[in-house]
Amino acid sequence: MDISNFPDAAGAANEVRQMLGGARPGVYVLTFGCQQNEADSERLLGAARSMGFLPVEKPEQASLILINTCAIREHAELKALSVIGQFKHLKSEDPSRIIGVCGCMSAEPARVEQFKSSYPYVSFTLQPGAADQLAQMVLNAMRSGKRFFSVPEQSAKIAEGIEPVRRFRHKAWVSVMYGCNNFCSYCIVPYVRGRERSRSREAILKEVRQLIADGCRDITLLGQNVNSYAGSCDFPTLLRDVASLPGEFLVRFMTSHPKDASPQLLRVMADCPKVAPHLHLPLQSGSDRILREMNRKYTREHYLGIVADFRRAVPHASLTTDLIVGFPGETEEDFEATLQVMRQARFDMIYSFLYSPRRGTPAADRPDQVPDDIKRERMQRLLRLQDELAGSIAAGYLGKTVRVLSDGPSKDGASGLYSGRTGGNKLVHYDGLPDDIGRFIDVEIDRCEPFALYGTAVRTGTDAG
Ligand code: 5AD
Ligand code: SF4
Repeated sequence: MDISNFPDAAGAANEVRQMLGGARPGVYVLTFGCQQNEADSERLLGAARSMGFLPVEKPEQASLILINTCAIREHAELKALSVIGQFKHLKSEDPSRIIGVCGCMSAEPARVEQFKSSYPYVSFTLQPGAADQLAQMVLNAMRSGKRFFSVPEQSAKIAEGIEPVRRFRHKAWVSVMYGCNNFCSYCIVPYVRGRERSRSREAILKEVRQLIADGCRDITLLGQNVNSYAGSCDFPTLLRDVASLPGEFLVRFMTSHPKDASPQLLRVMADCPKVAPHLHLPLQSGSDRILREMNRKYTREHYLGIVADFRRAVPHASLTTDLIVGFPGETEEDFEATLQVMRQARFDMIYSFLYSPRRGTPAADRPDQVPDDIKRERMQRLLRLQDELAGSIAAGYLGKTVRVLSDGPSKDGASGLYSGRTGGNKLVHYDGLPDDIGRFIDVEIDRCEPFALYGTAVRTGTDAG
């Protein structure tokens, strides 16, 4: 790729404007997948903005369309491919439009080949997290009209200095590390996101301080496995440092790998009132044999030990998890073991997934794949059990008053209700007021469903926060 004559941000903005005939061009980013991708998209938008692009609401308003893809399961990939296909007519409508595919699918050689050969309206692919290379890609595509596909080496450096365009003012994601070294046998992430790289403690604290100054009240420290953060301090120390900053806010973190969830982490959660009382601790399976074959490096007993320590250290906190149903070789007995751990751990919420074979991962090549109908039947049973458990946990909130950070009008459009999240990340619907958004509101709970609580705001006449 020709990177000579590559201008700075102001130069890039001028050049883009000239090439597009003067007006300020639009950029549209569509995001699939996890919170890490959401955070990456905010950085992609930031990089595009510094080239002069203006974020727009609809793809047809944009001169630059970016699709930030997810490769974790086949379903996510098929959805992205179908949406990219729908952008074909936008390119024919305006051939100067640039369409770029970013994120995890653009780090899979076979997919890159597919974009190159079967999606002629895609101008380039860009590695996950490589927002610093966006300007270069866009300018090269615009200048030459050529297409750029490569699977470059994952860069070890982390590009600082890109000002993200954030979706919300009152809540934000802050990446503390990128990549993963764990190579769970089902997972594609280490292949597409590369090895672990940690941001510096100073850069993270600077970003968090700025967020708090800008009115942010809920900050999530993000990484594939935050517990292996390795800046100039370890993760519990970083978390304590963030939670010690002045201001009214909560700090969350995800994801924690059970093999690295340390007593120090629980200590910080217990000590610091600004650390949200919520631990997301992916179990994946309750069977020791399956855990071993998944290369998870812990046993069910170790996992339950962390849960017991967590319950003691942070009473009334939320515990959530990820579960995979139908990993190769999973027997009825293995699956029962997962249900058993669910009964013991009593998760407030689970994210459950049908195992999806990912090309290039060890588990995908196994001959003992579980048939789809068995996977689905097990999933139904797992969801039924979780419904029961979540229902009984939720019932414990009846009549209690919880503190909620208001997100504004409820997404489901339920008549006039507002919604927000508790420190434990529980969804609460309540009778909101326009000023509530981004504020902490006390809500007395009068109805409990497995997935949401309903209640009435307790207002003191002044700021309820
Ligand atoms: N199939 C199904 N679920 C998967 N996950 C990761 N890889 C796969 C796969 N191949 C799930 C794990 C992980 C979550 C983010 O996605 O549960 O914790
Ligand atoms: Fe995937 Fe395991 Fe890394 Fe999580 S810890 S991203 S499941 S390899």
